[in-house]
Amino acid sequence: MRACVVTLSVCLVAGAVLAASGDKPYPIFPAKYFVENMKLLGPNFAAADAALAKGDFEAAKARLIRSRELLAVTITYWRDRKQDDAIRILRDVLAKLDGLDTTLSAEKVDQAAALSQFKQIGPACGQCHNAYREAVPGGKGFRFKAGMP
Ligand code: HEC
Repeated sequence: MRACVVTLSVCLVAGAVLAASGDKPYPIFPAKYFVENMKLLGPNFAAADAALAKGDFEAAKARLIRSRELLAVTITYWRDRKQDDAIRILRDVLAKLDGLDTTLSAEKVDQAAALSQFKQIGPACGQCHNAYREAVPGGKGFRFKAGMP
């Protein structure tokens, strides 16, 4: 019994040293999760657009909240890889989503204002896509630009 306790504590120490000595930390947010979130973001964002056009503000709001959640966590991807410019663009998109949420939370929603705010979000997403994303030839979707860390 005593031997077990000693062995365990030795193992724990060895584990801690290993974790501290790795020069390349394991990314907390792998590219796979990033792509999954973007794939979910696309249809949610499109559904928000459709709901806004119909004047269904509750549905639009719910879709935008989900979009915000999916996008916000991807900041860790860029932090892991020290991409400050991507972080700046991402924050700008989040701020625009928040602005629209405020408009949609009013007792009497100004649909024209909401639509014009919505129109500014797509191009903000596009700023990051232009910088960090490329199309896979043959209409096979998208991928990270070559050379991404
Ligand atoms: C800070 C960067 C950044 C922001 C902001 C961003 N994206 Fe992306 N997005 C990417 C990158 C990089 C990819 C390519 C990754 C991939 O799809 O393999 C991508 C891919 C996508 C895809 C394609 C997924 C696939 O592979 O089929 C969709 C859809 C998408 N984004 C929607 C959006 C929408 C909508 C917004 C804004 C609400 C947004 N993105 C904001 C970086 C970003």
